[in-house]
Amino acid sequence: MWRELLAIGRHAGSGGYRRFAWTGADADCRAWFAAQAAARGLALEVDRNGNQWAWLGDPEAGGAVVTGSHLDSVPDGGAFDGPLGVVSSFAALDELLARGVTFTRPLAVVNFGDEEGARFGLACVGSRLTAGKLTVEDAHRLTDAAGTTLPRAMEAAGYDPDTIGPDPERLARVDAFVELHVEQGRALDLSGDPVGVAGAIWPHGRWRFDFRGEANHAGTTRLVDRHDPMLPYAETVLAARREARLAGAVATFGKISVEPNGVNAVPSLVRGWLDSRAEGGATLDAVVTAIEDEARTYATAHGVDLEVVRESFTPVVEFDHALRDELRRLLGTGRDAELRVPVLGTGAGHDAGILSGSVPTAMLFVRNPTGVSHSPAEHAAEDDCLAGVTALADALEGLACK
Ligand code: GLV
Ligand code: MN
Ligand code: MN
Repeated sequence: MWRELLAIGRHAGSGGYRRFAWTGADADCRAWFAAQAAARGLALEVDRNGNQWAWLGDPEAGGAVVTGSHLDSVPDGGAFDGPLGVVSSFAALDELLARGVTFTRPLAVVNFGDEEGARFGLACVGSRLTAGKLTVEDAHRLTDAAGTTLPRAMEAAGYDPDTIGPDPERLARVDAFVELHVEQGRALDLSGDPVGVAGAIWPHGRWRFDFRGEANHAGTTRLVDRHDPMLPYAETVLAARREARLAGAVATFGKISVEPNGVNAVPSLVRGWLDSRAEGGATLDAVVTAIEDEARTYATAHGVDLEVVRESFTPVVEFDHALRDELRRLLGTGRDAELRVPVLGTGAGHDAGILSGSVPTAMLFVRNPTGVSHSPAEHAAEDDCLAGVTALADALEGLACK
Protein backbone atom coordinates (compact mmCIF):
# COMPACT_ATOMS: atom_id res chain seq x y z
CA MET A 1 0.00 0.00 0.00
CA TRP A 2 2.77 2.45 0.89
CA ARG A 3 4.57 1.78 -2.38
CA GLU A 4 1.48 2.71 -4.35
CA LEU A 5 0.89 5.89 -2.35
CA LEU A 6 4.52 6.96 -2.36
CA ALA A 7 4.55 9.05 -5.53
CA ILE A 8 1.05 10.54 -5.35
CA GLY A 9 1.22 14.32 -4.98
CA ARG A 10 4.86 14.21 -3.91
CA HIS A 11 6.82 17.34 -4.75
CA ALA A 12 10.16 16.51 -6.31
CA GLY A 13 11.90 19.53 -4.78
CA SER A 14 10.73 19.31 -1.18
CA GLY A 15 9.98 15.59 -0.98
CA GLY A 16 6.75 16.62 0.80
CA TYR A 17 3.17 15.84 -0.17
CA ARG A 18 0.80 18.32 -1.80
CA ARG A 19 -2.46 16.41 -1.79
CA PHE A 20 -5.02 19.18 -1.72
CA ALA A 21 -8.79 18.73 -1.85
CA TRP A 22 -10.31 18.15 -5.28
CA THR A 23 -6.99 18.32 -7.16
CA GLY A 24 -5.44 15.66 -9.38
CA ALA A 25 -3.39 14.31 -6.47
CA ASP A 26 -6.58 14.02 -4.41
CA ALA A 27 -8.25 12.14 -7.28
CA ASP A 28 -5.27 9.75 -7.41
CA CYS A 29 -5.55 9.13 -3.64
CA ARG A 30 -9.28 8.45 -4.06
CA ALA A 31 -8.59 6.05 -6.93
CA TRP A 32 -6.07 4.25 -4.71
CA PHE A 33 -8.72 3.96 -1.96
CA ALA A 34 -11.28 2.60 -4.43
CA ALA A 35 -8.74 0.04 -5.67
CA GLN A 36 -7.99 -1.08 -2.09
CA ALA A 37 -11.71 -1.54 -1.47
CA ALA A 38 -12.14 -3.47 -4.72
CA ALA A 39 -9.12 -5.70 -4.01
CA ARG A 40 -10.81 -6.82 -0.75
CA GLY A 41 -14.30 -7.14 -2.20
CA LEU A 42 -15.54 -4.21 -0.07
CA ALA A 43 -18.50 -2.16 -1.33
CA LEU A 44 -17.40 1.41 -2.10
CA GLU A 45 -19.75 4.25 -1.25
CA VAL A 46 -19.08 7.92 -1.84
CA ASP A 47 -21.32 9.95 0.43
CA ARG A 48 -23.00 13.26 -0.41
CA ASN A 49 -19.95 15.16 0.88
CA GLY A 50 -17.42 13.19 -1.14
CA ASN A 51 -16.14 11.04 1.75
CA GLN A 52 -15.31 7.48 0.68
CA TRP A 53 -16.54 4.45 2.64
CA ALA A 54 -15.46 0.85 1.98
CA TRP A 55 -17.95 -1.57 3.54
CA LEU A 56 -17.71 -5.11 4.76
CA GLY A 57 -21.30 -6.07 5.54
CA ASP A 58 -24.49 -4.12 4.99
CA PRO A 59 -24.06 -0.34 5.37
CA GLU A 60 -27.80 0.01 5.97
CA ALA A 61 -27.91 -2.51 8.81
CA GLY A 62 -26.83 -0.07 11.52
CA GLY A 63 -24.60 -0.63 14.52
CA ALA A 64 -21.50 -0.29 12.32
CA VAL A 65 -17.93 0.04 13.50
CA VAL A 66 -15.93 2.45 11.33
CA THR A 67 -12.24 3.13 11.13
CA GLY A 68 -10.14 5.32 8.85
CA SER A 69 -8.68 8.78 8.51
CA HIS A 70 -7.78 11.06 5.58
CA LEU A 71 -5.47 11.02 2.57
CA ASP A 72 -5.10 14.76 1.87
CA SER A 73 -2.11 16.71 3.19
CA VAL A 74 -0.88 20.10 4.31
CA PRO A 75 1.51 21.88 1.91
CA ASP A 76 4.63 19.70 1.88
CA GLY A 77 3.20 17.33 4.43
CA GLY A 78 4.68 14.03 5.54
CA ALA A 79 3.70 10.56 4.40
CA PHE A 80 1.92 9.51 7.61
CA ASP A 81 -0.49 12.24 8.74
CA GLY A 82 -3.72 10.78 7.42
CA PRO A 83 -2.53 7.89 5.25
CA LEU A 84 -1.20 5.91 8.24
CA GLY A 85 -4.78 5.69 9.53
CA VAL A 86 -6.20 4.57 6.19
CA VAL A 87 -3.42 2.10 5.38
CA SER A 88 -3.58 0.68 8.94
CA SER A 89 -7.35 0.29 8.64
CA PHE A 90 -7.05 -1.85 5.52
CA ALA A 91 -4.14 -3.75 7.08
CA ALA A 92 -6.13 -4.34 10.30
CA LEU A 93 -9.02 -5.66 8.26
CA ASP A 94 -6.62 -8.03 6.47
CA GLU A 95 -5.32 -9.12 9.86
CA LEU A 96 -8.84 -9.83 11.14
CA LEU A 97 -9.63 -11.90 8.07
CA ALA A 98 -6.38 -13.81 8.59
CA ARG A 99 -7.42 -14.41 12.23
CA GLY A 100 -10.60 -15.99 10.87
CA VAL A 101 -12.93 -13.86 13.01
CA THR A 102 -16.69 -13.71 12.49
CA PHE A 103 -18.01 -10.18 12.08
CA THR A 104 -21.13 -9.42 14.10
CA ARG A 105 -21.45 -5.86 12.84
CA PRO A 106 -20.88 -4.05 9.55
CA LEU A 107 -17.37 -2.62 9.36
CA ALA A 108 -16.22 0.27 7.17
CA VAL A 109 -12.96 1.96 6.31
CA VAL A 110 -13.45 5.68 5.61
CA ASN A 111 -11.43 8.35 3.85
CA PHE A 112 -12.66 11.77 4.92
CA GLY A 113 -12.20 14.52 2.33
CA ASP A 114 -10.31 17.75 2.89
CA GLU A 115 -9.19 17.12 6.48
CA GLU A 116 -6.29 19.57 6.44
CA GLY A 117 -8.09 22.50 4.87
CA ALA A 118 -4.90 23.34 2.99
CA ARG A 119 -6.73 24.62 -0.07
CA PHE A 120 -9.86 26.35 1.26
CA GLY A 121 -8.62 27.35 4.70
CA LEU A 122 -11.09 25.35 6.78
CA ALA A 123 -10.03 21.97 8.22
CA CYS A 124 -12.19 18.82 8.25
CA VAL A 125 -14.66 20.00 5.61
CA GLY A 126 -15.85 16.45 4.78
CA SER A 127 -16.57 15.44 8.37
CA ARG A 128 -17.87 18.90 9.37
CA LEU A 129 -20.45 18.82 6.58
CA THR A 130 -21.50 15.28 7.44
CA ALA A 131 -21.84 16.11 11.14
CA GLY A 132 -23.78 19.32 10.37
CA LYS A 133 -21.00 21.49 11.77
CA LEU A 134 -20.56 23.47 8.55
CA THR A 135 -23.54 24.95 6.75
CA VAL A 136 -23.96 24.41 3.02
CA GLU A 137 -23.97 28.20 2.55
CA ASP A 138 -20.67 28.62 4.36
CA ALA A 139 -19.16 25.67 2.47
CA HIS A 140 -20.25 27.18 -0.84
CA ARG A 141 -18.47 30.40 0.07
CA LEU A 142 -15.09 28.73 0.68
CA THR A 143 -12.57 29.97 -1.89
CA ASP A 144 -8.98 28.95 -2.60
CA ALA A 145 -6.02 31.28 -3.22
CA ALA A 146 -6.68 31.26 -6.98
CA GLY A 147 -10.28 32.40 -6.46
CA THR A 148 -11.86 28.99 -7.19
CA THR A 149 -14.81 28.28 -4.92
CA LEU A 150 -15.36 24.89 -3.28
CA PRO A 151 -18.44 24.15 -5.46
CA ARG A 152 -16.50 24.88 -8.67
CA ALA A 153 -13.57 22.75 -7.46
CA MET A 154 -15.90 19.87 -6.62
CA GLU A 155 -17.56 20.15 -10.02
CA ALA A 156 -14.20 20.17 -11.78
CA ALA A 157 -13.36 16.95 -9.92
CA GLY A 158 -16.64 15.37 -11.05
CA TYR A 159 -18.63 15.76 -7.82
CA ASP A 160 -21.97 17.47 -7.30
CA PRO A 161 -21.65 20.41 -4.89
CA ASP A 162 -25.44 20.78 -4.64
CA THR A 163 -25.85 17.52 -2.74
CA ILE A 164 -23.50 18.42 0.12
CA GLY A 165 -24.85 18.81 3.64
CA PRO A 166 -25.59 17.08 6.94
CA ASP A 167 -25.91 13.30 6.84
CA PRO A 168 -27.44 12.32 10.20
CA GLU A 169 -28.93 9.05 8.86
CA ARG A 170 -25.46 7.86 7.86
CA LEU A 171 -23.98 8.73 11.25
CA ALA A 172 -26.91 7.11 13.05
CA ARG A 173 -25.86 3.81 11.48
CA VAL A 174 -22.39 4.08 13.09
CA ASP A 175 -21.93 2.86 16.67
CA ALA A 176 -18.21 3.63 16.96
CA PHE A 177 -15.52 5.41 14.96
CA VAL A 178 -11.86 4.65 15.71
CA GLU A 179 -9.19 6.76 13.96
CA LEU A 180 -5.56 5.67 14.08
CA HIS A 181 -3.07 8.49 13.54
CA VAL A 182 0.65 9.09 13.71
CA GLU A 183 1.40 11.00 16.89
CA GLN A 184 2.24 14.63 16.18
CA GLY A 185 4.34 15.16 19.24
CA ARG A 186 6.82 13.19 21.33
CA ALA A 187 4.74 11.89 24.24
CA LEU A 188 5.02 8.24 23.16
CA ASP A 189 8.69 8.61 22.35
CA LEU A 190 9.28 10.00 25.83
CA SER A 191 7.17 7.37 27.58
CA GLY A 192 8.69 4.56 25.49
CA ASP A 193 5.36 3.22 24.19
CA PRO A 194 4.58 2.35 20.57
CA VAL A 195 0.84 3.06 20.82
CA GLY A 196 -1.43 5.34 22.86
CA VAL A 197 -5.06 6.36 22.96
CA ALA A 198 -6.41 9.90 22.77
CA GLY A 199 -7.83 11.63 25.81
CA ALA A 200 -8.80 15.04 24.51
CA ILE A 201 -8.14 17.40 21.62
CA TRP A 202 -7.25 20.93 22.61
CA PRO A 203 -9.62 23.67 21.46
CA HIS A 204 -8.18 25.36 18.40
CA GLY A 205 -8.94 27.92 15.74
CA ARG A 206 -7.74 30.00 12.82
CA TRP A 207 -7.88 33.79 12.69
CA ARG A 208 -7.09 36.03 9.70
CA PHE A 209 -5.34 39.32 10.46
CA ASP A 210 -5.64 41.89 7.64
CA PHE A 211 -3.23 44.80 8.10
CA ARG A 212 -4.05 47.49 5.50
CA GLY A 213 -1.57 50.29 4.88
CA GLU A 214 -0.50 52.24 1.84
CA ALA A 215 1.55 50.96 -1.10
CA ASN A 216 4.44 53.25 -1.91
CA HIS A 217 7.90 53.40 -3.45
CA ALA A 218 10.54 51.54 -1.42
CA GLY A 219 13.29 53.93 -2.54
CA THR A 220 11.71 57.34 -2.37
CA THR A 221 9.23 57.21 0.52
CA ARG A 222 10.69 58.58 3.76
CA LEU A 223 10.37 56.11 6.63
CA VAL A 224 8.28 58.59 8.61
CA ASP A 225 5.81 58.98 5.75
CA ARG A 226 5.08 55.27 5.42
CA HIS A 227 2.03 53.27 6.47
CA ASP A 228 3.77 49.93 6.21
CA PRO A 229 1.55 47.02 7.35
CA MET A 230 4.53 44.65 7.48
CA LEU A 231 5.74 46.38 10.66
CA PRO A 232 2.69 45.81 12.90
CA TYR A 233 2.40 42.34 11.36
CA ALA A 234 5.98 41.53 12.41
CA GLU A 235 5.38 42.89 15.91
CA THR A 236 2.19 40.81 16.12
CA VAL A 237 4.07 37.62 15.22
CA LEU A 238 6.39 38.27 18.16
CA ALA A 239 3.44 39.12 20.43
CA ALA A 240 1.78 35.82 19.50
CA ARG A 241 4.87 33.91 20.51
CA ARG A 242 5.11 35.82 23.79
CA GLU A 243 1.44 35.44 24.75
CA ALA A 244 1.45 31.74 23.92
CA ARG A 245 4.59 31.15 25.95
CA LEU A 246 3.20 33.00 28.98
CA ALA A 247 -0.05 31.01 28.87
CA GLY A 248 1.39 27.58 28.09
CA ALA A 249 -0.47 27.63 24.77
CA VAL A 250 0.71 27.60 21.15
CA ALA A 251 0.26 30.30 18.52
CA THR A 252 1.61 30.28 14.98
CA PHE A 253 1.55 32.62 12.02
CA GLY A 254 2.37 30.03 9.34
CA LYS A 255 0.77 31.61 6.30
CA ILE A 256 1.03 35.11 4.95
CA SER A 257 0.03 36.94 1.80
CA VAL A 258 1.40 40.34 0.82
CA GLU A 259 0.09 42.86 -1.71
CA PRO A 260 1.38 44.02 -4.09
CA ASN A 261 4.22 41.62 -3.18
CA GLY A 262 6.94 43.63 -4.88
CA VAL A 263 10.51 43.80 -3.63
CA ASN A 264 10.64 47.55 -4.23
CA ALA A 265 7.20 48.44 -2.87
CA VAL A 266 6.00 49.20 0.64
CA PRO A 267 3.08 46.73 0.97
CA SER A 268 -0.53 47.86 0.92
CA LEU A 269 -1.83 44.72 2.59
CA VAL A 270 -0.31 42.07 4.79
CA ARG A 271 -2.68 39.22 5.55
CA GLY A 272 -1.44 36.73 8.14
CA TRP A 273 -3.23 33.65 9.44
CA LEU A 274 -2.95 32.83 13.14
CA ASP A 275 -3.42 29.24 14.30
CA SER A 276 -3.71 29.05 18.07
CA ARG A 277 -4.47 26.20 20.47
CA ALA A 278 -4.50 25.68 24.23
CA GLU A 279 -5.47 23.01 26.70
CA GLY A 280 -8.52 24.97 27.84
CA GLY A 281 -10.99 27.25 26.06
CA ALA A 282 -10.55 30.14 28.52
CA THR A 283 -6.78 30.13 28.02
CA LEU A 284 -7.15 30.09 24.24
CA ASP A 285 -9.61 32.97 24.44
CA ALA A 286 -7.26 35.00 26.61
CA VAL A 287 -4.27 34.34 24.33
CA VAL A 288 -6.06 35.32 21.13
CA THR A 289 -7.64 38.39 22.74
CA ALA A 290 -4.22 39.54 23.98
CA ILE A 291 -2.65 39.01 20.54
CA GLU A 292 -5.46 40.94 18.88
CA ASP A 293 -5.23 43.81 21.41
CA GLU A 294 -1.49 44.12 20.87
CA ALA A 295 -1.93 43.93 17.09
CA ARG A 296 -4.37 46.86 17.28
CA THR A 297 -1.90 48.92 19.28
CA TYR A 298 0.90 48.24 16.77
CA ALA A 299 -1.38 48.93 13.79
CA THR A 300 -2.46 52.28 15.24
CA ALA A 301 1.14 53.24 15.91
CA HIS A 302 1.97 52.72 12.22
CA GLY A 303 -1.18 54.34 10.80
CA VAL A 304 -2.41 50.98 9.53
CA ASP A 305 -5.95 49.53 9.66
CA LEU A 306 -6.53 46.12 11.15
CA GLU A 307 -9.38 43.69 10.66
CA VAL A 308 -9.41 40.34 12.47
CA VAL A 309 -11.72 37.56 11.25
CA ARG A 310 -12.15 34.23 13.03
CA GLU A 311 -12.23 31.75 10.15
CA SER A 312 -12.78 28.60 12.17
CA PHE A 313 -13.02 27.35 15.72
CA THR A 314 -13.24 23.87 17.23
CA PRO A 315 -13.99 23.63 20.95
CA VAL A 316 -12.28 21.13 23.22
CA VAL A 317 -13.07 17.50 22.40
CA GLU A 318 -13.19 14.94 25.22
CA PHE A 319 -13.31 11.56 23.51
CA ASP A 320 -15.99 9.12 24.66
CA HIS A 321 -14.71 7.75 27.98
CA ALA A 322 -16.48 4.40 27.74
CA LEU A 323 -15.06 3.70 24.27
CA ARG A 324 -11.60 4.86 25.30
CA ASP A 325 -11.62 2.59 28.34
CA GLU A 326 -12.94 -0.28 26.25
CA LEU A 327 -10.09 0.23 23.76
CA ARG A 328 -7.50 0.27 26.52
CA ARG A 329 -8.98 -2.95 27.91
CA LEU A 330 -9.01 -4.60 24.47
CA LEU A 331 -5.45 -3.54 23.70
CA GLY A 332 -4.26 -4.57 27.14
CA THR A 333 -5.67 -8.06 26.68
CA GLY A 334 -4.94 -8.30 22.95
CA ARG A 335 -2.21 -10.01 20.97
CA ASP A 336 0.53 -7.96 22.56
CA ALA A 337 -0.03 -8.64 26.25
CA GLU A 338 2.93 -6.46 27.24
CA LEU A 339 1.39 -3.39 25.64
CA ARG A 340 0.92 -0.40 27.93
CA VAL A 341 -1.51 2.10 26.45
CA PRO A 342 -1.06 5.63 27.76
CA VAL A 343 -3.78 8.24 27.32
CA LEU A 344 -2.55 11.33 25.46
CA GLY A 345 -4.00 14.79 24.96
CA THR A 346 -3.22 16.44 21.64
CA GLY A 347 -3.09 19.85 20.06
CA ALA A 348 -3.86 18.47 16.59
CA GLY A 349 -7.33 18.48 15.05
CA HIS A 350 -8.90 15.35 13.55
CA ASP A 351 -12.09 14.16 11.86
CA ALA A 352 -12.62 11.97 14.95
CA GLY A 353 -12.91 15.17 16.98
CA ILE A 354 -15.51 16.60 14.61
CA LEU A 355 -17.57 13.39 14.68
CA SER A 356 -17.35 12.99 18.45
CA GLY A 357 -20.51 15.06 18.97
CA SER A 358 -22.54 12.62 16.84
CA VAL A 359 -20.88 9.22 17.30
CA PRO A 360 -18.76 7.64 20.07
CA THR A 361 -15.22 8.15 18.76
CA ALA A 362 -11.76 7.13 19.87
CA MET A 363 -8.24 7.55 18.53
CA LEU A 364 -5.10 5.46 18.58
CA PHE A 365 -1.74 7.17 18.22
CA VAL A 366 1.41 5.55 16.84
CA ARG A 367 4.80 6.68 18.12
CA ASN A 368 6.59 9.36 16.11
CA PRO A 369 10.28 9.22 17.10
CA THR A 370 10.95 12.91 16.46
CA GLY A 371 7.47 14.31 16.98
CA VAL A 372 7.85 16.18 13.67
CA SER A 373 4.65 16.44 11.66
CA HIS A 374 3.24 18.67 8.92
CA SER A 375 6.69 18.33 7.37
CA PRO A 376 8.37 15.91 4.94
CA ALA A 377 10.53 14.78 7.89
CA GLU A 378 7.52 13.20 9.64
CA HIS A 379 8.33 9.57 10.47
CA ALA A 380 7.15 6.40 12.16
CA ALA A 381 9.18 3.21 12.43
CA GLU A 382 7.90 0.11 10.67
CA ASP A 383 7.70 -1.90 13.91
CA ASP A 384 5.58 0.81 15.51
CA CYS A 385 3.30 0.98 12.47
CA LEU A 386 2.84 -2.78 12.73
CA ALA A 387 2.12 -2.46 16.46
CA GLY A 388 -0.50 0.12 15.47
CA VAL A 389 -2.11 -2.32 13.02
CA THR A 390 -2.20 -5.06 15.67
CA ALA A 391 -3.71 -2.65 18.19
CA LEU A 392 -6.32 -1.47 15.71
CA ALA A 393 -7.13 -5.06 14.77
CA ASP A 394 -7.52 -5.94 18.47
CA ALA A 395 -9.81 -2.95 18.94
CA LEU A 396 -11.95 -3.79 15.90
CA GLU A 397 -12.10 -7.46 16.83
CA GLY A 398 -13.40 -6.52 20.27
CA LEU A 399 -15.92 -4.05 18.89
CA ALA A 400 -17.17 -5.78 15.75
CA CYS A 401 -16.45 -9.52 15.97
CA LYS A 402 -17.31 -12.62 17.89
C1 GLV B 1 -4.64 19.18 11.45
O1 GLV B 1 -3.73 18.35 11.35
C2 GLV B 1 -4.49 20.26 12.39
O2 GLV B 1 -4.37 19.97 13.60
O3 GLV B 1 -4.41 21.41 11.95
MN1 MN C 1 -2.53 17.20 9.86
MN1 MN D 1 -4.33 14.09 10.20
